[in-house]
Amino acid sequence: MPSTFVAKGAEAYEASMGRWSRWLAAPFLDFAGVPSGGRVLDAGCGTGSLTLALTGYPELEAIEALDFEENFVAALRSRTDDARIGAQQGDVCALPFESQTFDAAYSLLVLHFVSDAHKAAREMRRVLRPGAAAAAAVWSYEGMPSWRLFWDTILALEPEAAGNGVPSGRRPLTAEGELRELFETAGFKDIAETTLAITMDYANFEDFWLPKVYGQGTFAAFFDALPEPRRDRLRDALRAAYLAGEREDGPRGFESVAFAVRGTA
Ligand SMILES: C[S@@+](CC[C@H](N)C(=O)[O-])C[C@H]1O[C@@H](n2cnc3c(N)ncnc32)[C@H](O)[C@@H]1O
Repeated sequence: MPSTFVAKGAEAYEASMGRWSRWLAAPFLDFAGVPSGGRVLDAGCGTGSLTLALTGYPELEAIEALDFEENFVAALRSRTDDARIGAQQGDVCALPFESQTFDAAYSLLVLHFVSDAHKAAREMRRVLRPGAAAAAAVWSYEGMPSWRLFWDTILALEPEAAGNGVPSGRRPLTAEGELRELFETAGFKDIAETTLAITMDYANFEDFWLPKVYGQGTFAAFFDALPEPRRDRLRDALRAAYLAGEREDGPRGFESVAFAVRGTA
């Protein structure tokens, strides 16, 4: 299985993560750099947050987008009629492209879900023309306060949720320096690493918790199977954590950090 990502459908993904990856796409491309023409790759495009950001560069001639999840690829196709985009289902560990045919390769919030990230990084390098750049980003494990608040509250009350959709530890590549090491091992040159920050703004408690319960992952099945009093207890604890002492429900913003790396082939 080349992916450890559990998809629940394009709409659920949009509500739980796609809305944030859309915001991350711009600072990511600022750091990664976009070539002044040619053909670029979005490896692990999901529902298209980065692909659609790339359509904002009129000088690009072709934008290839690839994801393991066919329904995400379909969602991307439905979101744009930009003729430069070629969207297809596929595996970033075995890219269906000729060697040395891209002018840039990007991977946003993907490599920590790929079973063999080294293979994926080598593939990104293989398809690049010599001197062309690749860039990747993943959320920092420590840098996702709204998600930590959510998962830690659940684990405190329902420890058996670990292994039922609640991450019980950090994923590979989500600590500082790990993406750099990945790119070094894959043979990239001129490597640079940085952190990118966005604010995850929630309108209210419902906007905070429902997409997380019913978004990506398998937690929803566990949650739905809980007896009602335990579901209510969990919802009340999550609400109290979200409100952080405020009486009125309302907006909260959480500064969130991703690690990013770039290198040249
Ligand atoms: C968190 S999402 C990020 C999607 C998109 N880049 C974004 O920023 O919204 C992770 C994506 O990686 C994809 N993925 C995981 N492993 C993959 C693989 N081996 N090949 C292709 N896509 C993969 C998943 O299907 C999922 O769409």
